[in-house]
Amino acid sequence: MNQAELRVVTIDGPAGAGKSSVARSLAARLGWRLLDTGAMYRAVTFAALRDHADLTCDDELGSLAERVSVRLANGSVYLDDEDVTGRIRSVEVTRASRYLADNPRVRARLVRWQRDFADDHEVVAEGRDQGTVVFPQAFCKFFLTASLEARGMRRFAEFQARGEAIDFETVLGDLERRDRHDEARAIAPMRPADDAIVVDSTGLSLDEVVDRIEGVVRRRLESIKRPQTAVGR
Ligand code: C5P
Repeated sequence: MNQAELRVVTIDGPAGAGKSSVARSLAARLGWRLLDTGAMYRAVTFAALRDHADLTCDDELGSLAERVSVRLANGSVYLDDEDVTGRIRSVEVTRASRYLADNPRVRARLVRWQRDFADDHEVVAEGRDQGTVVFPQAFCKFFLTASLEARGMRRFAEFQARGEAIDFETVLGDLERRDRHDEARAIAPMRPADDAIVVDSTGLSLDEVVDRIEGVVRRRLESIKRPQTAVGR
């Protein structure tokens, strides 16, 4: 196994499964950087809405993604050096993100940024396609899931905390539609990598999930650093 493979932990899974919180906490515990790829798709979506782009025009979205720059730094998201961290979490951006996520040119651009980000850092990468497409050689891959109810409750609490008025049924409907779309996408559909460990976070606290994942990561790192001496040598 080479060094590049050792530097990346991937956490994929559906919306509301707790990927962001788990990935952030795991990255802090390991002292690694967090690569929140959903934030990248959201930032480009924000740019498309801001510029009144035609969301059904593949060429327009592709050119937009190649024109703007998205940067993740110190827990914030920058679009052309403007801090858009709070604004990319709105219901409008969330709903429109599928148009950008379905676009091959947008994906190609974002995959380049994601690989560049991991080029000189150890990263915990979270998204939908990190273990399958972006970092197929990652040494440790997880697919984090939870029941629809549990995911809906989490998302609902997040909206409430931000003071956004939305009812629970709408949150559930949006989640279901987004997951179905992410799974059915022709390019980079959301699915567990063949070598991913599936973790169901239903009924578990954030710390319990992170403990479990961190345990696996540290054991793998140890076993890779100290390969067993071959018998007879
Ligand atoms: O994870 P988050 O909810 O912030 O992602 C927003 C949207 O971006 C998702 O619904 C998905 O369509 C898209 N996405 C993606 N590939 C990723 C991360 C996010 O297609 N690696």
